[in-house]
Amino acid sequence: MNHFDYRDGVLHCEDVALTRIAEEVGTPVYVYSTATFRRHAQVFRDGLKDCGRVHLAYAIKANPNVAVLRVLADEGYGADVVSGGEMARALAAGIPAADIVFSGVGKTRAELARGIDEGIGQFNLELEEEGVVLAAIAHARGTTAPAVLRVNPDVDAGTHAKISTGRAENKFGVPIDQAPAMFDRLAPLDGLALRGVACHIGSQLSDLSRLEEAYRRIGQLAAELRAAGHAIDRVDLGGGLGVPYKAGDVLPSPADYGAMVARVTQGWDVELMFEPGRVIAGNAGVLLTEVIWVKPGVTNPYVIVDAAMNDLARPALYDAWHDFAAVEPDGAQMTANIAGPVCESGDTFAMGREIDRVESGDLAVFRTAGAYGATMASTYNSRDLVPEVLVDGDRFAVVADRIAAETILAAERVPEWLTPAKVAG
Ligand code: LLP
Repeated sequence: MNHFDYRDGVLHCEDVALTRIAEEVGTPVYVYSTATFRRHAQVFRDGLKDCGRVHLAYAIKANPNVAVLRVLADEGYGADVVSGGEMARALAAGIPAADIVFSGVGKTRAELARGIDEGIGQFNLELEEEGVVLAAIAHARGTTAPAVLRVNPDVDAGTHAKISTGRAENKFGVPIDQAPAMFDRLAPLDGLALRGVACHIGSQLSDLSRLEEAYRRIGQLAAELRAAGHAIDRVDLGGGLGVPYKAGDVLPSPADYGAMVARVTQGWDVELMFEPGRVIAGNAGVLLTEVIWVKPGVTNPYVIVDAAMNDLARPALYDAWHDFAAVEPDGAQMTANIAGPVCESGDTFAMGREIDRVESGDLAVFRTAGAYGATMASTYNSRDLVPEVLVDGDRFAVVADRIAAETILAAERVPEWLTPAKVAG
């Protein structure tokens, strides 16, 4: 469910016509719906209503725009962060430090120290040594860092290899069979309050049985740790719930997910932590683009749009599908390839796809681009950094500026030892 619908033949975000945003802000541009963010935040929370004590930490990597974070903070969400930069954003958006979970396989010592100073609510340890270092930093400051140990349950998430994280050979977490011994060694350390365990097996998950298997394993571990005398009062179940990218796709809903969690975690008697990202942000955004050319091709024409792989990297990186729709469709269809202007064949969004007929100058959107869209953008090919717009009812605001290629050029320096450029003529 989202708030991108046609009214009088024109695609709107809530009450704002996308034609208006294109005119005022230009393209390409990400457009987000506040109402969709709010709705997803509420639906996910409602799905967990039978799960007892629950803490929601939005995985801000999915869409870290500070205005988006404000909306989600207002919905009562904390944050899951994976870098000092994300921590700063979450705090800047007004999310209390105590509601922030600090994940990430490569937190630096400086980031750990900063997290302790800010009063971060939970550190998710990725290796034993990180726990030792965190304890020492906290102890030296006369404080105690709350932490959980992330385990790798060795479950195949059944998603794209590049977004799977829960197999034994992945870089994340500690092997589940080694967790009890590590817990025994870490729990007594001064400066550390080791409160439980965490897992996250991957993203864009469409098969709840894989998650269920991981959760069962982590539940058994928690019970084992308790039996060994450890105080376990938190289990972090990560994120990962997938979203429909293709019209007609059916994925498990937050309610289905919540029912599974309630069933599996019954009797655990812990606070359950969640780190949803995509399910909150994915369908809350589109990438609005203009068709530059329709170029004849050998089999199908190429629709060349002004958005490219540097703006939306998912198709190039993960073979991801994003529905493409004209902003003012005329009812006709065409079979086409869709590509951007970047000089790589990988800068192709779709091949041989049945789409709304478009011509040069028409506006169109890639749907379901609210998660892992703008945040993964780059300026490759010296293109501008794509801007972001947030719509709320009949108003909208540019919540991230377009950063011109010239501005980026201005931040570069030619060292003095290089000879000055020869002036032509
Ligand atoms: N927690 C942890 C520890 C994570 O690593 C992730 C995502 C999440 C939560 C949020 O997962 P979600 O609910 O969004 O599935 N760029 C890729 C996705 C990378 C996901 C990385 N970790 C993509 O565009 O598909």
